[in-house]
Amino acid sequence: MGKIASMSIDNGRITSATQLYAVIGDPIRHSKSPLMQNAALNSCQIDAVYTAFHVKPEQLQACVEGMRALGIQGMNVTIPHKEQVMKLLDELDHSAQVIGAVNTIVNDNGRLIGYNTDGMGYVRSLKEETGVDLQSSRILMIGAGGAARGLAYALLNEGCEQLTIANRTLERAHAIAAELQAFGSIQVAQLEDGRPDILPEEVDVVINTTSVGMHPAVEISPMDKSWLRSSMIVSDIIYNPLMTQLLHDAEEIGAVTHSGLGMFVYQGAIAFELWTGQQAPVHVMREAVLQAL
Ligand code: ATR
Repeated sequence: MGKIASMSIDNGRITSATQLYAVIGDPIRHSKSPLMQNAALNSCQIDAVYTAFHVKPEQLQACVEGMRALGIQGMNVTIPHKEQVMKLLDELDHSAQVIGAVNTIVNDNGRLIGYNTDGMGYVRSLKEETGVDLQSSRILMIGAGGAARGLAYALLNEGCEQLTIANRTLERAHAIAAELQAFGSIQVAQLEDGRPDILPEEVDVVINTTSVGMHPAVEISPMDKSWLRSSMIVSDIIYNPLMTQLLHDAEEIGAVTHSGLGMFVYQGAIAFELWTGQQAPVHVMREAVLQAL
């Protein structure tokens, strides 16, 4: 039997009317979503709690049935369930359909609707924290995995001037470009030893969507430092550590940097808004995560 951590939690306010939200994943105990979402629920005085469930792939269907049976109001979905959960829902928002992954489920009076708030959350954070005008930006995205697809969709929706996807495996970049061609034109580039075959002078914003540089391998960067320019905004979707090697390198040459913390906070803020219909207390949410890191 698992041990219950001996932490003081104020559960005196939980009544038979209290609603439930949760995040599901495998693994899940590292997730900062409960801290962040409970801080938001408390701050808005909403009678609900947000918890985390460790759900194995073979239990995913039962978990979604449980959500229906128990009337759980909303869930976040994380690795490895983001794709598999789609077929278990009643409806998919356009974002989830195009990206091919769900990170947020809304229980709308028994109808389970899947959304993907990752890309939108990223864009909101990038704009707010750097003041970038995406419509006049030439963007270079490093990586062509699941995270890259969500970001590419959101950036194209913002009408960015140019989007180039650089990946070690070129075919994967081509695959995203083909899938998303209806939303704007995407160029592809080969990434070799941290150097994409595109001129740095043609890039305003660099975004790392790979896991290169994530804890514990914090000393590596997906980009060769000599390729970066001081005129660039350099952004990383990693938030552990907050300052990745890529961002250290960018800061050293005087570029503007943007960490992945904002994307995490805003994907949660948009989920909170979908669930509650209230504006998310973004500062409270950011503080809660920062304190936990
Ligand atoms: P996610 O869903 O988190 O995006 P993913 O689909 O496994 O994860 O994609 C990981 C991305 O990181 C890919 O673009 C991958 O490059 P490849 O397609 O060439 O595998 C990239 N990546 C992972 N490790 C890398 C490394 N050491 N150097 C360069 N790119 C790397």
